[in-house]
Amino acid sequence: MVAETLKELYEETLSAAPTSFEAGELFTHVTGVKPLDADTRPAEPKQRQQLETLLKRRGGGYPLQYLLGEWEFYSLPFKVGPGVLIPRQDTETLVDAALGALRTMAVPEPQVLDLCSGSGCVAIAVKHEHPAAAVTAQEFSPEAYSYLTQNIALNGLEITPHLSDLREYTHPVPVDLIVSNPPYIPQSQFRDLQAEVGFEPLAALDGGEDGLYYFRAIARRFKEQLRPGGALLLEIGMEQEEEVAAILRENNFERITFHKDLNGIVRVVESHSPIKGTSLS
Ligand SMILES: C[S@@+](CC[C@H](N)C(=O)[O-])C[C@H]1O[C@@H](n2cnc3c(N)ncnc32)[C@H](O)[C@@H]1O
Repeated sequence: MVAETLKELYEETLSAAPTSFEAGELFTHVTGVKPLDADTRPAEPKQRQQLETLLKRRGGGYPLQYLLGEWEFYSLPFKVGPGVLIPRQDTETLVDAALGALRTMAVPEPQVLDLCSGSGCVAIAVKHEHPAAAVTAQEFSPEAYSYLTQNIALNGLEITPHLSDLREYTHPVPVDLIVSNPPYIPQSQFRDLQAEVGFEPLAALDGGEDGLYYFRAIARRFKEQLRPGGALLLEIGMEQEEEVAAILRENNFERITFHKDLNGIVRVVESHSPIKGTSLS
């Protein structure tokens, strides 16, 4: 049976989509109509074809977020597509921890640096919630960088984007707060990842053999770029907290604390550069 009305088209979508949430998102994306408002108005053949194509791609594991082209993070809109990591809800823990650190340090116009910025979700959410911060968003993939600049414009915020490799980046002034969600998946785990993740850029995921490559690189290079007492906040993978804390200690970071995500999993490691002449750890 061919769907003649919007209601029938929604029902068809519902039976083909993996979940009712996804059916609703795809249906609204194509028709501009919410599922609850799908009535006896005629469905256009073009809408049917478009939905068929999207559902087929989704069936092959292509991420819903890439099909929609936009996704929400910290209640803000972000353009997403091939070449950029999809913002994850877990990463909101990093934003919460960053905002907490900014409140505690109470610097009037803090310098904030987001390394490995990708879509810009962390930098943009922090700037949105803490407008006085001077935020730089650093990213090395040209594809991701193009989403980063689009998302800064989409959210109408003043953020400095920087296309570079973090292993060579030097911030022009001492930084109060560095945040980063770097690639942290150990290469041995690549085979176990969900099908969807295979469509996301490898450079956003690959944390080297043990998953810790970028934590070492960031701790080594950026300990000198934080002002004394400045904070470094790193998103980590499951059960990486002790190893990451050890790397931070080796690089003289102090006052190491852990922040848990909504599932009770340690997701962020917070640490501080030493205040000269004291040891607070
Ligand atoms: C896990 S993703 C995080 C993206 C975004 N911050 C988020 O939370 O959704 C890691 C990002 O680091 C970038 N990246 C990988 N290696 C890098 C390097 N050497 N220098 C700078 N960025 C790098 C990747 O392109 C990717 O966008």
